[in-house]
Amino acid sequence: MSELESLNEQLDRLREQALQDFAAAAGLDELEQLRVRYLGKKGKLTEVLKGVGRLAPEQRPLIGKVVNEIKQLLAEALAGRERELQAVAEQQRIEAERIDVTLPGRKLPQGAIHPVQQGLEEMTAIFRQLGFTVAEGPEIEDEFHNFDALNIQPEHPARAMHDTFFFADGHLLRTHTSPVQIRAMQSLIKRGGTPPVAVVAPGRVYRCDYDMTHSPMFHQVEVFQVGRDISMAHLKGVLKFFLSSYFGKALPIRLRPSYFPFTEPSAEVDIGCVFCDGKGCRVCKQTGWLEVLGSGMIHPNVLQAVGIDHREYSGFAFGLGVERLVMLKHGIPDLRLFFENDVRFLRRMGS
Ligand code: DAH
Repeated sequence: MSELESLNEQLDRLREQALQDFAAAAGLDELEQLRVRYLGKKGKLTEVLKGVGRLAPEQRPLIGKVVNEIKQLLAEALAGRERELQAVAEQQRIEAERIDVTLPGRKLPQGAIHPVQQGLEEMTAIFRQLGFTVAEGPEIEDEFHNFDALNIQPEHPARAMHDTFFFADGHLLRTHTSPVQIRAMQSLIKRGGTPPVAVVAPGRVYRCDYDMTHSPMFHQVEVFQVGRDISMAHLKGVLKFFLSSYFGKALPIRLRPSYFPFTEPSAEVDIGCVFCDGKGCRVCKQTGWLEVLGSGMIHPNVLQAVGIDHREYSGFAFGLGVERLVMLKHGIPDLRLFFENDVRFLRRMGS
């Protein structure tokens, strides 16, 4: 066999082997290795071409032409196989990333507004509707705002240690929202303002007490209005509007003489029993009435304490327990349900 024939035969074999190998390549990496092995600088084709030097000069161009054809053919085969393998890789990636869009989503548990918070917001909204301004005061108070300015004498039982949470420095957790009366009137006077002033003050209060009907932390809404010629008629009108709006029906109300240090006269307010419509039942102890809040005409000493002339101005005030009203509205039997945070209760009563 001549050199030329032998060379041609080697080239034929190389071409066939390369085509077979390319077709069998399982991945792009492997294909790249094959390209280097056959067409690279130190590859098989270069190896075969070393034999060209042994050919007669006139034979060399013949081989050159064949080699170029092979190079061209193999380059095309490589490109074709590369496209195939790329398509396979792409398909595998799509399969791997596939998501089932028909799968139901993960549910985010929805929270609810706590019934006490809900009640607080409803009550505040009713007073805002009447033109009252919302005010808040600090839960950590001093004796002046919580007691003295409200005409509560040092020997008054509400000041006894067992009722009030005191701090070592003489501050205390406010036992009611009435100190907001003092703060709101003080800030009015400080701004150079004068009555009329009408305020609703919702918030937390604290007392050292715990049983079926008492919790060491609970909520009150304080309401007061000061102006010229404010009388108990205004008090009764606001109470009637408020209580009927909150309970969603026209309710009879009744004022009973009572005593609070910061009001004179003072009155306990009753509503017609919402459970029996005043006919008498277990809840109202057959009286037909439910006590709902304390009220009165602001004591001259209180106006005096904030620098408002009680001969010129008068005012009414009342304070209510939010939990108590929410319990009455929704028939909740035990105060402690509000604070145990049993999700069954919160789901049922929350909104
Ligand atoms: N501060 C009283 C309490 O916590 C409630 C109260 C009664 C508030 C009569 C008032 C009022 O404004 O006039 O028991």
